[in-house]
Amino acid sequence: MREVPDFPLPGVVFRDLTPVLADPDALRAVVDALQDRIHPDTQLVAAVESRGFLLGAALGYGWRYGVVPLRKPGKLPAVTHRVSYALEYGEATLELPAGSITPGQHVVVVDDVLATGGTAVAACELVEKAGGVVTGVSVVLEIPGLGGRERLAGHRVEALLTV
Ligand code: PRP
Ligand code: HPA
Repeated sequence: MREVPDFPLPGVVFRDLTPVLADPDALRAVVDALQDRIHPDTQLVAAVESRGFLLGAALGYGWRYGVVPLRKPGKLPAVTHRVSYALEYGEATLELPAGSITPGQHVVVVDDVLATGGTAVAACELVEKAGGVVTGVSVVLEIPGLGGRERLAGHRVEALLTV
């Protein structure tokens, strides 16, 4: 993992997991460890744009989950739900593709990093708006002290590492 000071704004230390994903053994270890902690009832992965896509696709292929991309605005041709939220460094919106979650489906939210939790909370809200049941939030890295885990109270949160 690489630490990049002052990205994307002055004062933010950005934890960059790109080198982990680029290493074949580390990628496999990370994906296997995420899978080990996913609730066994899970049927579907909701993968958060953009780095969550890489992990979510690997999990979906490896363990036969379906994968749903939760996207930044303006990317999807058909949107069912939209949630806006605050980030550590700005504001953002996530959208859920139409027809992607069946009511009652058990869904894990997957991303690379949990920081303030704004993104993960929005992802859980999207799943629940569509009638899905959130089985947990799985991330590689949790940055404690920004309130992410607290904001996700009531949800199972699985993080492989903290800094
Ligand atoms: C990062 C990261 C998570 C989110 C975590 O994505 O990949 O999705 O921020 O922060 P939070 O817990 O404070 O919400 P970012 O919004 O930078 O988008 P990107 O993956 O498209 O670069
Ligand atoms: N790295 C990656 N994503 C993030 C970070 C970070 O340090 N902080 C908020 N989202």
